[in-house]
Amino acid sequence: MSGEPGNDERPQRGGLRMNHPQRGGDLRVSQSGYKQVAQRMKAIQEQQKMIVQRMSRIKYKIGILSSKGGVGKSFVTTSLAAALAVEGRRVGVFDADVHGPSVPRMFGLREGMGLPARMDGSIVPQEVPPGVKVVSIGLLLPGEETPVIWRGPIKTSAIRELLAYTDWGDLDYLLIDLPPGTGDEQLTIAQIIPKLTGFILVTIPSEVSKAVVKKAAAFAKRINVPLIGIIENMAYFECPDGTRHYIFGRGAAREIAEEFGIPYLGEIPIDPKIREANDRGEVFFLAYPDSKAAKSFMEIARKVIDYVEKSHT
Ligand SMILES: Nc1ncnc2c1ncn2[C@@H]1O[C@H](COP(=O)(O)OP(=O)(O)OP(=O)(O)O)[C@@H](O)[C@H]1O
Ligand SMILES: [Mg+2]
Repeated sequence: MSGEPGNDERPQRGGLRMNHPQRGGDLRVSQSGYKQVAQRMKAIQEQQKMIVQRMSRIKYKIGILSSKGGVGKSFVTTSLAAALAVEGRRVGVFDADVHGPSVPRMFGLREGMGLPARMDGSIVPQEVPPGVKVVSIGLLLPGEETPVIWRGPIKTSAIRELLAYTDWGDLDYLLIDLPPGTGDEQLTIAQIIPKLTGFILVTIPSEVSKAVVKKAAAFAKRINVPLIGIIENMAYFECPDGTRHYIFGRGAAREIAEEFGIPYLGEIPIDPKIREANDRGEVFFLAYPDSKAAKSFMEIARKVIDYVEKSHT
């Protein structure tokens, strides 16, 4: 409210004048404070320029989005990346889940193993079979049990810095594993990556998941990021005799696809081997290439290639 004593935010000679709630008086930001802010702004601009440059060498940048936790976003990201690499594409995975990075383990990498850096300060991704480049904050933490206790702005700058300094080289696809929600990380990725190709949605068939994933679809529309399609994970469990049990219900992904007019990309069954492989740190897709899930991922990868490469040439 202007006019009240101590609440005038107009720039003053010698610095910004701001109200200090505890002291109830004015706090002047000194010239050095101005300088610090200006330096920070300049650093952000520099990093953004570096991101634009690095991203210009990557043809398609795709975020894996869901809003709902635990539906298999990280598993889908790592498996789809492996399937795209098997299809002969140059692929990278960026793990934007700062609080719960699962990508390193699913690719058989140890948390805390580090990321090599060059003399010029650029970061070199870890490379895993079948030729996928991986960057995750999890690789930089001292151990798997180390929590990251950061508020939004710090997460945003961590993501920006990692993207600015990582040298992916030339890639066809960069898949970005997003945490649950439609908040800081999702917005940061949408804002700082120029020409994000789109999001792929992941849901399980339950009503609870469907309701939340619809929010993710609406979020993508609101911020004008295209939806490439939707995948239904944990779609059914198949017994050895071939009978299928639809444990979480049926049809959520098709319903969302229809409602939002987006492609339905396919379904992945529940398979205990998936959980076991992920827990062991084995790339499921390579350990069980004949499984239904691995075959589904090959089909999904071909659909993604078809859709993305035809519409974004
Ligand atoms: N189709 C499946 N069959 C069996 N287990 C699965 C399947 N998909 C994922 N899982 C397992 O479910 C758990 C959650 O998967 P994942 O970590 O990929 O979910 P997420 O959506 O990334 O979770 P978060 O929201 O915490 O990031 C993991 O233990 C994973 O191994
Ligand atoms: Mg995850």
